[in-house]
Amino acid sequence: MTIVVTGATGNVGGKVLRRLLAAGHPVRALTRDPSRAELPAGVEVVRADLDLPDTLPDALEGARRVFLMALGHNKRTHDANLVAVARKTGVEHIVQLSTLGVEEVDEEHDTPLGTWHRQAENALRESGLGWTILRPNGFMTQALGWAPAIRGEGVVRSPVADLPEALIDPEDIAEVAVRALTEPGHTGRAYALTGPAALTAREQVAALGEALGRPLRFEQISVEAHRAILAERYGEATAAGVAKALATVLESGDDFRGRLFPDLERVLGRPGRSFRDWASAHAAHFA
Ligand SMILES: NC(=O)c1ccc[n+]([C@@H]2O[C@H](COP(=O)([O-])OP(=O)(O)OC[C@H]3O[C@@H](n4cnc5c(N)ncnc54)[C@H](OP(=O)(O)O)[C@@H]3O)[C@@H](O)[C@H]2O)c1
Repeated sequence: MTIVVTGATGNVGGKVLRRLLAAGHPVRALTRDPSRAELPAGVEVVRADLDLPDTLPDALEGARRVFLMALGHNKRTHDANLVAVARKTGVEHIVQLSTLGVEEVDEEHDTPLGTWHRQAENALRESGLGWTILRPNGFMTQALGWAPAIRGEGVVRSPVADLPEALIDPEDIAEVAVRALTEPGHTGRAYALTGPAALTAREQVAALGEALGRPLRFEQISVEAHRAILAERYGEATAAGVAKALATVLESGDDFRGRLFPDLERVLGRPGRSFRDWASAHAAHFA
C-alpha cells in the first residue's frame, strides 16, 4: 500500500524515502518541483505544495500512510492543510516530524518554535486519524552549516558554546519513522528522540577536528549574529523563532536539550548513532 513521503527531496524525508524503497514498500514522493527532485528510480513522484491545499488530494489519492514534515513557521498551517485533506482521502495513519520541547516546555515559557510544533501536533491529534509523533532533539546535520567556515578558516562560530545537547543523527529519526509507518504498535505514541550523549558545541567542534585530523577554533558569537546567519539560510521568520528559543535557553541556563530519553533505544533496540561516528562519516564535507 502506497506511503506518501513529504520532504522527500530533503534531509529526514529523503532518508525515510530511501529506507522505505530499500525495504520494498511502494512510495510516493511529494515535491513542489518534480523536474528538480532527482529521486531514485522506482519512486512515484507527485507535484504538490503543502501551502496550496488544492494540490493535495491528488497527492494523497489511494495512500493510507503519510510521513509528514514541514518547515519552521509554516509548520502549523502546512501540517493542518495536509491533515485536513488526509481525513477526506482515506489516509489512516500519519507519522509526524515534530520537535523536542513541545512537552518539556510549558506553554507559559514557550517559544515560537515550540508553539508552531504544538499547534501542528494538535491538528493531527484532533483529526481522528491514527498518529505517531516524532520529537527529535537538534539534528547532527546542523553542523553542516559550519562546513564553509571550517573549510575556509578552520573556525566555528556559534552562540551556544557550553550548552550540552543530545543531538540526533537524522538517519536514526528516519529509521524510527519507517518503523512507525510499517509496523504495528506505534499508534498514539509520541517519541522523544535523542542521541546517545549530550555534547556542547565546543565538544562537537573538537570531535570534528579529530575526524579531520586538525584542530579547529571555536568563537562564541551573539544570538543576534547567529540569527542573521540563519535568516540567510531559512528566512527571517524561522530565524527569529530559533533565535528566541536559543536566547530563552541561554538566559535560563535550564535546558531539556541535554537530557537523554530512552524512546529511540526502545524502538530500535540499540542506542542512537554518536556524534563522533557522524563526524567521521561526514568528514569529507568539512575537509
Ligand atoms: N534542524 C533541527 O535541528 C531540528 C530539530 C528538531 C526538529 N526539527 C524538525 O525538522 C524539520 C526540518 O526537517 P529536515 O531537515 O528534514 O528539512 P529539510 O530537508 O531542510 O526540508 C526541505 C524539504 O521541505 C520540502 N518543502 C519545503 N516547502 C514545502 C512546501 N511548501 N510544500 C511541500 N514541501 C515543501 C522540500 O520539498 P521540495 O523542495 O521538493 O518541494 C524539501 O524536501 C523542522 O522544520 C522541524 O520541524 C528540526
